[in-house]
Amino acid sequence: MTDTTGAPRTERTLILVKPDGVRRGVSGEILRRVEAKGYRLTAVELRTADDALLAAHYAEHVGKPFYAPLVEFMASGPVLAVVAEGERVIEGFRSLAGTTDPTSAAPGTIRGDLGRDWGLAVQQNLVHGSDSVESAEREIALWFPAL
Ligand code: RTP
Ligand code: MG
Repeated sequence: MTDTTGAPRTERTLILVKPDGVRRGVSGEILRRVEAKGYRLTAVELRTADDALLAAHYAEHVGKPFYAPLVEFMASGPVLAVVAEGERVIEGFRSLAGTTDPTSAAPGTIRGDLGRDWGLAVQQNLVHGSDSVESAEREIALWFPAL
């Protein structure tokens, strides 16, 4: 993609390796795939999210049946919060991650290769990736206010 001057336009996205990914020791493998694809890591931080951060992050899901268990799961241990940068990285990382349900996510994707159903529906699916430029800006401001 280019801007109005024809110069390449890079984007940033927020990636989270969820607590299941950190617990299972696949954070490095996930970062490896992001870097191998050619995206640059702008920020990486291991932290345990509090309820206020998760409520803001998942505001779009408030009221859905999976909201409370999702927030509880996301607060159950450290997550690896990452900002990655590159042309069309938002779409590119969603493609690397695969579809939401790890059982049916395509082989070759993070969720398809590394994830499975642990009896908790599609909750434990290893990663989060921003789904639009607006979401990415909002989520990066929440997780990395200094950026
Ligand atoms: P994400 O936001 O984590 O990148 O994943 P996504 O866009 O593929 O999925 P989304 O619809 O935004 O849902 C956010 C997360 O909520 C959990 N979830 N559980 N039916 C369920 O039990 C259910 N549906 C969604 C998953 O952890 C999903 O990634
Ligand atoms: Mg989502």
